[in-house]
Amino acid sequence: MTSTARDVPPTTNNAGVPVESDEHSLTVGRDGPILLHDHYLIEKMAQFNRERVPERVVHAKGSGAYGTFEVTNDVSQFTKAIVFQPGKRTEMLARFSTVAGEQGSPDTWRDPRGFALKFYTEAGNYDLVGNNTPVFFVRDTIKFQDFIRSQKRRPDNGLRDNDMQWDFWTLSPESAHMVTWLMGDRGIPKTYRNMNGYGSHTYMWINEGGQRFWIKYHFKTDQGIDFLTQEEADRLAGSDADVHRRDLYEAIERGDHPSWTLYVQVMPFEDAADYRFNPFDLTKVWPHGDYPLIEVGRMTLNKNPDDYFIHIEQAAFEPSNLIPGVSVSPDKMLLGRIFSYPDTHRYRIGPNYTQLPPNRPHVPVHSYAKDGPMPFDPSRAGRPYAPNSYGGPAAGPERFDPSAGWETAGDMVRNAYTLRRDDDDWGQPGTMVREVLDDAARDRLVGNVSGHLLNGVSRPVLDRALQYWRNIDKNLGDRIAKKVDGG
Ligand code: NDP
Ligand code: HEM
Repeated sequence: MTSTARDVPPTTNNAGVPVESDEHSLTVGRDGPILLHDHYLIEKMAQFNRERVPERVVHAKGSGAYGTFEVTNDVSQFTKAIVFQPGKRTEMLARFSTVAGEQGSPDTWRDPRGFALKFYTEAGNYDLVGNNTPVFFVRDTIKFQDFIRSQKRRPDNGLRDNDMQWDFWTLSPESAHMVTWLMGDRGIPKTYRNMNGYGSHTYMWINEGGQRFWIKYHFKTDQGIDFLTQEEADRLAGSDADVHRRDLYEAIERGDHPSWTLYVQVMPFEDAADYRFNPFDLTKVWPHGDYPLIEVGRMTLNKNPDDYFIHIEQAAFEPSNLIPGVSVSPDKMLLGRIFSYPDTHRYRIGPNYTQLPPNRPHVPVHSYAKDGPMPFDPSRAGRPYAPNSYGGPAAGPERFDPSAGWETAGDMVRNAYTLRRDDDDWGQPGTMVREVLDDAARDRLVGNVSGHLLNGVSRPVLDRALQYWRNIDKNLGDRIAKKVDGG
């Protein structure tokens, strides 16, 4: 039976014209050459050659789904953001990812996981682009590119290289908190459903009265934290490289919708000035004892995308998407990220990326942006300039919120933050090792670190790494040294 005899629609070319064959090119005689004017053949080849967009420069391997965020507690005394008002429900998109691996890399490599959220609010899109870690490896944007290169592949042999990783980390002691976290159990979550998400940075919330607060976001998994041991992860990397993508997709398909409860830590605006360490430093957490978690709401993922490429590969998250009631802080990483994301989207998927399905706001857009590659929304302003007297959209100075910022002055310097009493790189990771981990978790940490160090780390770097761990915790460092050097 040929395909035309079946009860299916005819294959068409991209112009909608039914085609003759998907099996045979047009040739001169059965044994002759193919003809250039077989337009459908040319279209197939040309389209195929252009199927890929560049993968994300980081976080290339990911998975995502649509869902809903619903507010369960009244936090309106802290923010006027529409998405956090009592009883509010907002449609959203989430994408989870690994960081250093490429598109086809195994989901179970030890790596932080991205936790990127887009809320389609009535005030426009609000994006919260976090990780499953409350801290990060560096505290200044200017180090991010170097850090990432140390985790990716070597230019000469194209291989990933633990020596590069430890070289960078040990020369950047501010990485100690994040590296301790990464080498511990949470460095390989069992599934995306079994990890927390953190906004990581300090953000600002502003309430109706113009009062400001510093806040940190914590999305706690309702499925419970669970992890893979290094051995389990290595085995899965060989047998099912897409295990986390598969798990998320299948859970949602069977109606087992994963959810996370959102909490915030709230620091009164004035506390930041003399808190015992710099509260904007991304390598530090705010101890729960100082700033307890306050419940806000719950996000539930309940809808798989019907086309992975359209909705997840083309999803473009950007920390610059902020709505009234939410703002940035003096965190030197966050401020750099505000530039980086829209810039990379313009390169990766084109300047009209906001018109694509996952990125389109769910509110009317009245921007003066115009033309460029592949716009498909009609021009949104009758006259393409502002101001105009033909009824074009008008910006409003009354929308400028002077409270959504902070006072600053000083000479120009290149120096990350003024040091305060508790501003050191080793204290918080040391607390984690001694007070948060139990004996079994500490044993696994020793095993994970020594296994990593024994895999291609050269001597001078290795010595620095052992000292790095002794700085975090003397006893732990000695145990790692014993495993690595046998002495
Ligand atoms: P708490 O005892 O109140 O908090 C400790 C937190 O550690 C827990 O709430 C949990 O975070 C997290 N945690 C538990 N096991 C692990 C693990 N294996 N790997 C990573 N994190 C884990 O103490 P403090 O708030 O005073 O923090 C003490 C230390 O805990 C910090 O120095 C930091 O290293 C770590 N930590 C603190 C967080 C914070 O925001 N305060 C968040 C995460 C870690 P959760 O509840 O988010 O699951
Ligand atoms: C992705 C830059 C720090 C979380 C990306 C991308 C870039 C980038 C260029 C690719 C985006 C894309 O192609 O769609 C930076 C810079 C940083 C930084 C310059 C520091 C200055 C961070 C931090 C976090 C984070 C601290 C978490 C707290 C993410 C996530 C993604 C991502 C989750 C993937 C988003 C998605 O799922 O599409 N980052 N990043 N990044 N980044 Fe960062």
